[in-house]
Amino acid sequence: MVWERKNLLGLEELSKDEIESILKTAKSMKDILARPIKKVPTLRGKLVVNLFYEPSTRTSSSFSLAAKRLSADSMGLSVKKSSVVKGESLLDTAKTLQALGADAVVIRHGIPGAAKLLAEEVNIPVLNAGDGVHEHPTQALLDMYTIQEERGKIAGQKIAIVGDIKHSRVARSNIWGLNKLGAEVRVIAPKTLLPVEVEKLGVEVYTDLEEGIKDVDVINLLRIQRERQGKGFFPTIREYVKFYGLRKEHLELATDDVTVMHPGPINRGIEISAELADSNQAVIEEQVTNGVAVRMALLYLLIRGGSRDEEAIT
Ligand code: CP
Repeated sequence: MVWERKNLLGLEELSKDEIESILKTAKSMKDILARPIKKVPTLRGKLVVNLFYEPSTRTSSSFSLAAKRLSADSMGLSVKKSSVVKGESLLDTAKTLQALGADAVVIRHGIPGAAKLLAEEVNIPVLNAGDGVHEHPTQALLDMYTIQEERGKIAGQKIAIVGDIKHSRVARSNIWGLNKLGAEVRVIAPKTLLPVEVEKLGVEVYTDLEEGIKDVDVINLLRIQRERQGKGFFPTIREYVKFYGLRKEHLELATDDVTVMHPGPINRGIEISAELADSNQAVIEEQVTNGVAVRMALLYLLIRGGSRDEEAIT
């Protein structure tokens, strides 16, 4: 298919074909990353700006690396040291970056819809690197890429997402994307950490971890946001660990070769035991590696758009 979309704002709006096109392009990018010289000239002369209003290790650094692997320049704007602290608005900041010659902006912001707002105001591609509790599309795409790589397919796979579903943009994007590609998605959480009418998103809902992970192919654990403790979502971390912390012995309930995922950052000993996080069944580091390939694919598709040709990435 010819890529026509200007922005990547979320997986709710993408079609099955578009998601498959991204995953296929990411495979070509991963092949590049396996070469002795891990760089192609595809985006030479282009500038990708990272505009992060919230902290990030993986997303920010892998977008920056993805740009460099495609020979684009990458510039990270340190929001705390920018004119944002003098009151400059998000839109004026983005328009300034556009005037400086940016070819794409990657934005993470605490407000749902911030990436969409920006995309409506600038004429360069905008990539959503997480907008509040709304969506984190590049994380879900790298999760889907990893599932396809580990399990050979996504359609028909039983996938459990465990943890703070209510406040998780990762969960929301995964649910949209996985459903479009034909997976059977379950969510597992205490009732207080489930959004109202979550089943309307097309998931099976469990409040019991052992019941929910029975016969699943993939378990995707979410970070328990410790800052929420004491706000009535769960009594104590110790209690959460007792009922929802995944340990190696739990895996006997799932399918034999179950794949354990986590978007990171992980809380060792809370949502996942240290032993399990370091085991062969956990693919947490593979997810990070795949994040570079997926973000290369997105920069390539969005910046080159309809002008792209297959030779550019061979
Ligand atoms: N998974 C994820 O978004 O990690 P960062 O917050 O480190 O980017």
